Amino acid sequence: MSFETPLPTTPILETARLVLRPVELRDAPAIQRDFPDWELVKHLHAGIPWPYPQDGAIANIRDCLARRARGEKFFWVLTLKGGDDEAIGRIDLGPYDGETRDTRGFWLARRFWGRGLMTEAAEAVTGYAFEVLGWPFLYLNNAAENRASHRIKEKQGAEIVDVLPHPYMSGDGMRVTWILRREVWLARKAMAGVRPRRLRGPPSRSSRPAERRPGRC
Ligand SMILES: CC(C)(COP(=O)(O)OP(=O)(O)OC[C@H]1O[C@@H](n2cnc3c(N)ncnc32)[C@H](O)[C@@H]1OP(=O)(O)O)[C@@H](O)C(=O)NCCC(=O)NCCS
Repeated sequence: MSFETPLPTTPILETARLVLRPVELRDAPAIQRDFPDWELVKHLHAGIPWPYPQDGAIANIRDCLARRARGEKFFWVLTLKGGDDEAIGRIDLGPYDGETRDTRGFWLARRFWGRGLMTEAAEAVTGYAFEVLGWPFLYLNNAAENRASHRIKEKQGAEIVDVLPHPYMSGDGMRVTWILRREVWLARKAMAGVRPRRLRGPPSRSSRPAERRPGRC
């Protein structure tokens, strides 16, 4: 198993509530509206231009598309299934280069926080990395204060490998680095698929044969 590049074409991924599709230039207006939110950017790596410039989203998307064309990284936007195809967030995935322990990043428009949406997106992208690409692990990061991002990694079965000083938009903080191993994630997923079995007692109502009623076949 290795992190081969150039990467294949970005696939469209679906979850129960989301469609993740490749970022496009037409996503700029939605991203320009939702991303420049201090509550959203404060825990991100320092270096995002702030105040966010008028052409911030389009410039970032152009950069993503250039990196995508070189096969370096996947860049998806999150859209609501059955919705209007508008971007409500982003999730990125890249191969481990042997040095930079940062293979996934994400953000979601604040009005959608707290509904489990990024957990769904992270699971879909992780499944693609482990089940389709066969990558052996992902390195993940979050600011120690970023409890929501921290929790998503915990829920996925990642293990903390380091806590080190790091510059964030809100100032110097501590960065938690995690490793999410393929075998751990697959085992967790397999366990989640095992439903508790009834061991004793009479069959439940739903498993009894249907009673015959007069006049009905
Ligand atoms: C991080 C972010 C993507 C999370 O998106 P989300 O869709 O709200 O996340 P989810 O609902 O899937 O999961 C969040 C989890 O964190 C928990 N959580 C949220 N805030 C928390 C807090 N202050 N303390 C503890 N747990 C918290 C939620 O309860 C949930 O866990 P649960 O399912 O066990 O209840 C979103 O907050 C965001 O865009 N933040 C700004 C950008 C960012 O920080 N990106 C990540 C950089 S590392």
